[in-house]
Parts: sequence; C-alpha cells; structure tokens
Amino acid sequence: MAAHTICFANNKGGSGKTTSCANTGAALAMLGKRVLLVDGDMQMNLTLSFFDEDEVMDLAKSGKTIFEALVKEEDLSAYVRQTQDENISLIPSTTLMSSIEMELFTKMRRETLLARLLRKLKGSGSFDYILIDSPPTLGNWVMNILSASDHVIIPVEATPWGLFGLANMFDFTERVREISPELDILGILVTKADERKNYCRQVRENLRELDNIRVFDSVIHVDSAVEWAQDSSSTVVTFKRASRSAKEYMQLAKEVDEICR
Ligand SMILES: Nc1ncnc2c1ncn2[C@@H]1O[C@H](COP(=O)(O)OP(=O)(O)OP(=O)(O)O)[C@@H](O)[C@H]1O
Ligand SMILES: [Mg+2]
Repeated sequence: MAAHTICFANNKGGSGKTTSCANTGAALAMLGKRVLLVDGDMQMNLTLSFFDEDEVMDLAKSGKTIFEALVKEEDLSAYVRQTQDENISLIPSTTLMSSIEMELFTKMRRETLLARLLRKLKGSGSFDYILIDSPPTLGNWVMNILSASDHVIIPVEATPWGLFGLANMFDFTERVREISPELDILGILVTKADERKNYCRQVRENLRELDNIRVFDSVIHVDSAVEWAQDSSSTVVTFKRASRSAKEYMQLAKEVDEICR
C-alpha cells in the first residue's frame, strides 16, 4: 500500500510544525510504523531533531539533500538516510534551500516536482507514513509540499496571534486543490498550550466554529522537555517518554493512524 503522506504546514512561524512533524514521526515509529521524514526547511530543524550538528553539516555537504534532488530532478530514493531509530528514515535539508524558489522557477510543471520525485518512495511499500516539514512561507515550494501530500496537519499555537493568518493557509490549500484535488486538511493541532493562560480554551473554541475542519482531540502543552530533547538532537517521544508532551504526541499519533487507516 502507498505510504500515507502528511505535511505539517502553517505560514505562521514558530507554530510547532517541526516539533510536531518530528514527534508525530517518532510516535508513529513507536507504534511500529515505518516512517520517512522529509525536511523541507532551510532551517534544518527536522534534520537536527535526529542528527547532531556535526552530522547535519556532513549531511549538508554530502550533496545528497532535498535541494540537490530537486535541482537535478532525481528520484528521492537515493537520498534517504537511516536515523538511529530503525523505523525512522530521513531526507535531510540544507541552507541552500533558501534559493529553492528561484530554482523552481526554471522548472517545467514546477508545482508538482516534489510529488514526482517522491512517487517511487511513496509506492515502494517501504514506508507506512511519509511526513514532510514545511518552512513558514506560502510560495511555490510549499505548494510542492502540499501537492505531494495526501493530508496536511496545521499546527496552531495557542496564543492570541496563533489564529492570525490561518485564513491565508485555508485559501492557499484551496489553490493547491486546483492541482491536487485530493489534498485534505487532516486537522488543526493546538500546540504550546499553557493552562495558566486562558487563551488555550478560547483558541480551541474559536477553532471549533470552523465548518468541516477537524480539530484534533490531542492538544500539545508547553513542556520544557521538548526543548531539552531538541538540545540532545532527539524527539521528546524518545528522549523523555514519561513527559506530558511525549504522551500527547503518542495520543496524536494514534489519532492520526486511526483516521488514516
Ligand atoms: N510543546 C512545546 N513546549 C515547549 N516549547 C515548544 C513546544 N513546541 C515547540 N516548542 C518550541 O517552540 C519553538 C517553535 O517550534 P517549532 O520550531 O516546532 O515551530 P515551527 O512552526 O517549525 O517554526 P518555523 O516556522 O520557524 O519553522 C521552538 O523553539 C520549539 O522548541
Ligand atoms: Mg520549523
């Protein structure tokens, strides 16, 4: 069966895309799923969640990152790296991704290049899930990420400005559907919720008023373990299984897996 392909996208920066992509991946792997992660952001934070800084620099120098694959229009199978977790593989990013919009400009059918390069891996039977992390932009590259995906998860930070710009994200998804009609918003994930502040409840209530858009039951709370895990090039799910956020990401992975099955 083809891998379920899910991207994490929101043009709002710092909304928890990378943290959620890495941890949902690690949690799905813990459920026994074979996971491929694709780092689509020049910040390389997803790559840094599985490799230390020296390894990330070596990966970037290897010429085998998402950037070279896109520029050379090469199938992505040769770009897959094994992480320390046998169920998690990763296609690394590089700072060169800062010029991806310019590179795409010269390509034919430029909105669907990633979908074409990912097609073989998706159908290979090697992975149950492919999770793609996006940068906080809405250009041609993120259009590629969305059109290569079956589903999008939109992480939203539980702050007064967390919902600001969400309408742009919905409009953008509608535009992608013109190329990729099957794309579906799997759900909105409330992240960095802080119960000491009332915004969290208010954000969830506002989100529930949206028609036909799922808000995940799982909510990710603010948890310093997330940052400690990132400091150790790890996910909180593997670094501190007993932490609140690790349990929340495990619950989210179950929720996602039930919907996709
Ligand atoms: N549950 C959490 N508890 C505490 N800190 C968190 C949590 N989730 C994310 N963070 C922190 O918030 C910051 C932003 O998170 P993250 O990098 O996942 O967002 P992003 O949407 O990928 O950002 P960008 O738009 O820059 O790519 C990071 O410093 C991360 O460590
Ligand atoms: Mg990020």
